[in-house]
Amino acid sequence: MKISELFNVSGKVAIVTGGSRGIGEMIAAGFLANGVKVYVTARKEAALIEKARELSEKYECECIPVPCDLSTMEGMTSFVNYIESNEEHIDFLINNAGASWGEPYAEYSEKGWDKVMDLNVKSIFYLTQKLTPILKIKASIEDPSRVINIGSIDGLNVPALESYAYGASKAAVHHLTRVQARRLVGDNILVNAIAPGPYESMMLGAAVNHDYSLIESRNPRKRIGSPEDIAGLTIFLCSRAGAYTVGEVITSDGGLVGTAGHDLSQL
Ligand SMILES: NC(=O)c1ccc[n+]([C@@H]2O[C@H](COP(=O)([O-])OP(=O)(O)OC[C@H]3O[C@@H](n4cnc5c(N)ncnc54)[C@H](OP(=O)(O)O)[C@@H]3O)[C@@H](O)[C@H]2O)c1
Repeated sequence: MKISELFNVSGKVAIVTGGSRGIGEMIAAGFLANGVKVYVTARKEAALIEKARELSEKYECECIPVPCDLSTMEGMTSFVNYIESNEEHIDFLINNAGASWGEPYAEYSEKGWDKVMDLNVKSIFYLTQKLTPILKIKASIEDPSRVINIGSIDGLNVPALESYAYGASKAAVHHLTRVQARRLVGDNILVNAIAPGPYESMMLGAAVNHDYSLIESRNPRKRIGSPEDIAGLTIFLCSRAGAYTVGEVITSDGGLVGTAGHDLSQL
């Protein structure tokens, strides 16, 4: 019952997709600070390699960069081949890489729609499918493996921005989480989703000119999310403490959904 055992994740091996910045970097940092070996992916090779070096040094734990484009079947296959040739098992898969696309309703392009759906939804299904054998290797009733899909409160609330595919893709992520959870719980792989609210990142920053003050003032907690918020929830889900939580979509949004529901003025 000690916290040091209930929340212990040290010695585990994790994959964090989109780990070169933003929420993925925050989750990777939380793992590394607590003794988890982490594979991080992103498309931009130089930035990813530099980030992995920086995180390894800061937390004195191994962070391994694997550049790849996870929005294509070829990219996923080459990534999975790399993992299978370098690891005998994986404990945690964090499906975090995601993209958004904003355009006025009348001009909303198929290119944007496909980009968002391919990465945010299709790649979560296929990457998890391809990694299921290696996630199963050490998974047991006492110590299950974990998959965490990063959804969004935009999949729960109705977004105010003109990001039509994004909200739909995140609602799909939340439901896919339940479908995957049902299929994989029998293999001792527990699937859950985190639906973040506002966190500092390139994605959200681009939408608000990197000025979060309005978002902070409208949030019930009067701030945006911090690395500790998202890392702490992820570690809970991956630790002994979270081993009876399955198929859930858990918000990390300062209370936006819980206290404001569908009130668009709160966004
Ligand atoms: N920040 C928020 O407020 C917020 C709120 C709710 C949900 N989320 C979700 O949180 C997740 C992370 O978002 P973020 O805000 O941290 O975004 P971000 O700063 O844009 O980071 C996205 C990460 O994914 C990688 N990535 C993008 N496309 C990729 C691809 N095709 N293949 C492999 N990696 C790819 C990026 O690296 P490269 O560009 O080098 O590929 C980067 O590492 C997303 O699923 C997002 O929808 C974020």
